[in-house]
Amino acid sequence: MKQTTPPPGSPRTYRVKSFGCQMNVYDGERMAELLEADGIAPAPEGEDADLVVLNTCHIREKATEKVYSDIGRIEKAGRKAGKKPMIAVAGCVAQAEGEEIMKRSPGVGMVVGPQAYHRLGDMVGKAAKGERSTDTDMPEDAKFAALPARRKVAPSAFLTVQEGCDKFCTYCVVPYTRGAEISRPYSELLIEAEKLVEAGAREITLLGQNVNAWSGEDDKGRSVGLDGLIRQLDKLPDLQRIRYTTSHPNDMTPGLIAAHGEVGKLMPYLHLPVQSGSDRVLKAMNRSHTAESYLKLLDKFREVRPDIALSGDFIVGFPGETEAEFEETLALIDAVRYSSAFSFKYSPRPGTPAATMEGQIAAEVMDDRLQRLQASLGRDQHAFNTAKVGTVCDVLIERKGRRPGQWLGKSPWLQSVFFEEELAIGDMVRAELVSAGPSSLAGRLVERAPA
Ligand code: SAH
Ligand code: SF4
Ligand code: F3S
Repeated sequence: MKQTTPPPGSPRTYRVKSFGCQMNVYDGERMAELLEADGIAPAPEGEDADLVVLNTCHIREKATEKVYSDIGRIEKAGRKAGKKPMIAVAGCVAQAEGEEIMKRSPGVGMVVGPQAYHRLGDMVGKAAKGERSTDTDMPEDAKFAALPARRKVAPSAFLTVQEGCDKFCTYCVVPYTRGAEISRPYSELLIEAEKLVEAGAREITLLGQNVNAWSGEDDKGRSVGLDGLIRQLDKLPDLQRIRYTTSHPNDMTPGLIAAHGEVGKLMPYLHLPVQSGSDRVLKAMNRSHTAESYLKLLDKFREVRPDIALSGDFIVGFPGETEAEFEETLALIDAVRYSSAFSFKYSPRPGTPAATMEGQIAAEVMDDRLQRLQASLGRDQHAFNTAKVGTVCDVLIERKGRRPGQWLGKSPWLQSVFFEEELAIGDMVRAELVSAGPSSLAGRLVERAPA
């Protein structure tokens, strides 16, 4: 890895702040590695960094305003300390707003879109000379090839396998900010997965905006789907867990469903967003599945893996959503009994078809629906957790808890499990789940390293 002495004016320390989805977390980690390869060190906690990268999200409202207020805050802190920090705006707001950010915020030195991170180093070099630059090109796959290898990773690591989206749900900005669907090559992913495991990963979560649309070719030119990639990763001896997220109902294959019954390391958890339980709303969203086809799909997963934990995403208050249609979403939730879920108020995104649809829903109505929806989801999550009390499972310890002496890990069903015993990050322990709260469980150590 190249290690150079930075030229004068170059930042010596950096901080990357990532917002939004896990793919941004992955990208943020890779940008950090890129900066470190150029001799820039992470800023010590509590200290201002010479270079701040805001790795932004554009999925819902206020994201853009938040970026401008963050920029203001960083500049103010810099002025107080008599410094002028270098600011880079990356991520989906960078892609969507590009030049606008440059115009509005003279303190921003670089705007770099999610497909252009491999050029970050050059842009920092330019900024050190007082030159501002914007790069929101979308060259296919270039960024991954140019990103450096990792040295040390957390026990639970992300691996982006697929990016972009061709689905064009009428409410969503992702197809515009992340571009068309691309799959990273199979061989490249196997190498990166091996490196992750060598560097300490015990669990790998495969990431993609439509991760189950991933496809590749093996060394004999045969086509491989996500299930094939998972089966190959299953062979890595030191890898203990495999997960993937986020899937789209339309890209689900029989092979991937079958893998849940056959691949021991594939965890019993599926995140499958549905957004609404009303077929009229789903059609207006351009989701191209119905409530019934979605439920049938979940049944297939339950057939091969009866204990599978199900998760989803919901939007309340899509334009034109009636009370009766909202109640269809509640009915779908009752039918599924999710173990956890994410739910959002519809947020009109500039440039998306739904933003100009008739029947935009009043804020109070959305608030009321979100509250009722979350009450249902919360009830089911608590019930799911409670049903596990008294059982024994493996838990991967990921970090310290907030209280001193407390440790936090994840169950196979992605529940947070807290321990009071002395443990270490990366431990895989056998634990009894002794009590359940609405969003976590308490665990008691049965055995330090399960067979
Ligand atoms: N690719 C995934 C997730 C994309 S974004 C999928 O298709 O399911 C994550 C979630 O944000 C979406 O599932 C949706 O529930 C929510 N979301 C996206 N755009 C939104 C908007 N304009 N308003 C509110 N929620 C939105
Ligand atoms: Fe957005 Fe729909 Fe694509 Fe998901 S599938 S990223 S919600 S357009
Ligand atoms: Fe946000 Fe972009 Fe992810 S808009 S959710 S950071 S793909």
